[in-house]
Parts: sequence; C-alpha cells; structure tokens
Amino acid sequence: MKTIILNGSPRRNWNTAQLLKEAQRGAESAGADVEYIDLYSLNFNGCRSCLACKRKGIAEPCKCYWKDELTPVLEKIWLADRLIAGAPIYYGEPASGMRALLERLAFPAMSYNDYSSVFKGRVDADIFLAMNAPMQYYRQAYEGRMQEYFAPLRFLNGQVRIFPVCDTLQVRDYSKYDMAGFSEEHKKAVHDAEFPKLLEQAFRIGAACEPNRETLMAMNEAESIAGDPDARRYSDVEEALKALKE
Ligand SMILES: Cc1cc2nc3c(=O)[nH]c(=O)nc-3n(C[C@H](O)[C@H](O)[C@H](O)COP(=O)(O)O)c2cc1C
Repeated sequence: MKTIILNGSPRRNWNTAQLLKEAQRGAESAGADVEYIDLYSLNFNGCRSCLACKRKGIAEPCKCYWKDELTPVLEKIWLADRLIAGAPIYYGEPASGMRALLERLAFPAMSYNDYSSVFKGRVDADIFLAMNAPMQYYRQAYEGRMQEYFAPLRFLNGQVRIFPVCDTLQVRDYSKYDMAGFSEEHKKAVHDAEFPKLLEQAFRIGAACEPNRETLMAMNEAESIAGDPDARRYSDVEEALKALKE
C-alpha cells in the first residue's frame, strides 16, 4: 500500500508535523510504503488556469501540465492508495499551500463536461487540521466550512476524513511574544493532557490501512500511460505552457 504523507504546515516539527510523523509510524507499522513530504520545502503555485488539462484529444486524465516542484507530488498522489495530509488553520482556513495543492490536484481530475471525476482509481484521504481554536469553536465555526473546503477531494473517489486538533500550543515560551490573548498555563495544560492522546490517535489512524483493488488497477493504467512512446501528441500543450511562462 502506497501512502503519501503531506505536511502542509510551514513548520517542520510542530503540531501538524508531529501528528503526521506519528501517522507515518502507524502506516509503516502496518506495512505501508510511506513517503513523507514537506509541502513548504517546495517551490510551487496554485492553478495557473492554463486549461491544458481540459484540451480536447490531448489532455491525459488527472495530469496537471504546469511544471514546478509540485508536479512529482501530484503524480505520486495519483499513484497512491492513501493520502494523509495536515495543515494549520490560518484565518479560518487551512494554510494557503493546501489550497494550491487542491487546485492543482482536483482540477485536472474534474470533468468540465459533467463535473464527474475522470480518475478511475481511488485514493483515500485523511486530513489533520491544527488550530488555536477550541473544539467547541471548531464545531460552530469551522466544521461545515472544512467539509466544503475539502470537497474537491471527492475527485479522488475515496473516503475523506477530517481530524481537527484544537487548542494547540503555538510557541514554547509565550512570555517571549506579544500573545496576551492566550493563557500559557491553559495552552500547556491542554498540550500536556491532550496532545499525547492525539499522537496515539494519529498513529492508529496511520495504521488503519488496507490495500484496495481499484487503486492497484489505476496504478497499472497510469504506468501504461507513462510508458506511452507517442509523446509528440502532447507537444503543443508543452509549447503553450512555455509561452505562458515567458
Ligand atoms: C497566520 C496565522 C493565522 C492563524 N489563524 C488562525 C485561525 O484563524 N484560527 C485558529 O484556530 N488558529 C489560527 N492560527 C494558529 C495556528 O493554526 C496554530 O498555531 C497551529 O497549531 C499551527 O500549526 P503548526 O503548529 O503545525 O504550525 C493562525 C496562525 C498563524 C501563523
């Protein structure tokens, strides 16, 4: 089972990353083939609206033609059985790298003829969201919005599960920052009591994986596309992209 783990926090070792690393340990303990990627170590943009992925007779299913450091990540997700991603909440939404990823991942998989998925396989997605907000606020203000935000993941044809991680510790020493709106005592108490349990939960979430047949079929299909010797038929798309970049 191929599992891609994507850290959508710019901080490589904080709440989101720690949860994802536990999920990674869990997935590996269950025998998954896991790759961990820090999204913010990559240089990439959101969708450039080149619409190459909608070109008649040319566009391959699920292929984003814009080339940057996200390209191999997108390819890996389409070949995976499972995506485990995480992001912090910034201003009520997952941090912007996640939006850029969703645009580049989902748009090439969405038919503009009937809004169905052109993906023939299945990738299940588990999403961790770290935030300052307490759970009650998440339920009231964010939960519904997150369902909508991650709706583009439906083009992956798998289940989508969202795990909120609330009231996180944002810095180690609050006294060094202008952050009087937060009680360090409260934040540390929650962190000490709850975060270890959440890490255990993340491990279990990571471990709960079973291979699925559809994805194996899709992998075979994708490999046969990658081996297509008739690469010339894509050349005018490449030229259009080059012109856009100039
Ligand atoms: C620019 C910015 C905006 C933020 N906005 C929110 C917010 O709207 N709601 C919230 O609950 N937390 C917000 N936070 C707090 C982070 O979501 C929280 O600290 C989270 O744990 C960060 O994840 P990390 O520890 O993995 O980096 C914000 C943090 C930053 C830096």
